[in-house]
Amino acid sequence: MKSVGIKGLGYYVPERIMTNADYEKIVDTSDEWITSMTGIKERHRIAPEQATSDMCFEAAKKALAAAKLSAEDLDLIIVATVTPDHHAQGAACIVQKKLGLKTIPAFDISAGCSGLTYGLTLGDSLIKSGRFKRILLIAAESLTKITNYEDRGTCVLFGDGAAAVILEETEEGYGILSSYIGAEGEDDGILSIPAGGSRKPHTVESIQNNEQYIVMKGPDVYKFAVNICPAATKKAMELAGLKMTDLDLFIPHQANIRIIEAAVKRLRIPPEKVFINIQKYGNTSAATTGIAMGEAIEQGILTKGKIVAITAFGSGLTFGSVVMKWAY
Ligand code: COA
Repeated sequence: MKSVGIKGLGYYVPERIMTNADYEKIVDTSDEWITSMTGIKERHRIAPEQATSDMCFEAAKKALAAAKLSAEDLDLIIVATVTPDHHAQGAACIVQKKLGLKTIPAFDISAGCSGLTYGLTLGDSLIKSGRFKRILLIAAESLTKITNYEDRGTCVLFGDGAAAVILEETEEGYGILSSYIGAEGEDDGILSIPAGGSRKPHTVESIQNNEQYIVMKGPDVYKFAVNICPAATKKAMELAGLKMTDLDLFIPHQANIRIIEAAVKRLRIPPEKVFINIQKYGNTSAATTGIAMGEAIEQGILTKGKIVAITAFGSGLTFGSVVMKWAY
């Protein structure tokens, strides 16, 4: 069986930073509440003229450079996002054009914040099958464009960003060791945008009611997350044939510091093995674990041979955990 791994990673966050003090001017909130309830201090916000594919393009160029490859070396593009530039057109197709490519397949996957774990699982299988050789997988989200800035329960949480990886066959025993993905489907509006889809196309009324923005039942997501995050990580480690103590680095989805702390406590992972950057970026959905891997590489924490687990959960409700032996 082939080994498939990440051979280059790049990430991008927009320039503009929104601090908790900025939110104090928009909604009835406080730095104290946001910090203690979520761990977030700042997030990056995409410019009005930017869209998700613009961030994807920036991250993709960096990933290709890290892998010492050019766009022509790719044979598939996958973008994991719930905020494509346009409905009814994959952001991946726009990225293909931006990269100057002509015919390689390009499509999006929609798995909420679990998108990167779903994409890695898919990419791993497609390369192992022999159908594709080198895949550009990007997790990118412009959540601030679908955020209701009158809803203090959601607007303080989200930020924008993108992370891109190049997946290809790698040295035996390195790369993706296991993955465990799943979903607990719901249609109770736990985490979704009420209007603008086929269930409820936009009307003047839906726009007036702010139904074009994300709606979340925070406590329901919280309950799901604190259970699934440790359970999925444990399962993925078992599937990799590893003990929790074999883990060098745990990169959980950066949605809420309290969810991370609860998961880490349950998994008994020492704090020095846990990567946290939620304070700088907030929740960038599918991109959080990718941006965190990028920062861990920059900081010299994630190096060849290290065992790393990334675990995410999100709308759907979906979840996923991928265990890798870092390949470069
Ligand atoms: N500032 C101040 N108060 C706020 C607030 C804010 N930004 N947002 C919510 N509150 C208030 C609520 O209005 C409520 O007030 P009330 O008791 O007077 O009605 C109170 O805080 C508690 O609200 P609740 O939603 O029950 O809080 P919570 O303890 O569940 O915390 C979250 C809210 C959003 C931090 C928490 O639910 C959470 O993190 N959930 C998971 C979210 C997530 O991870 N989403 C992404 C999934 S990928």
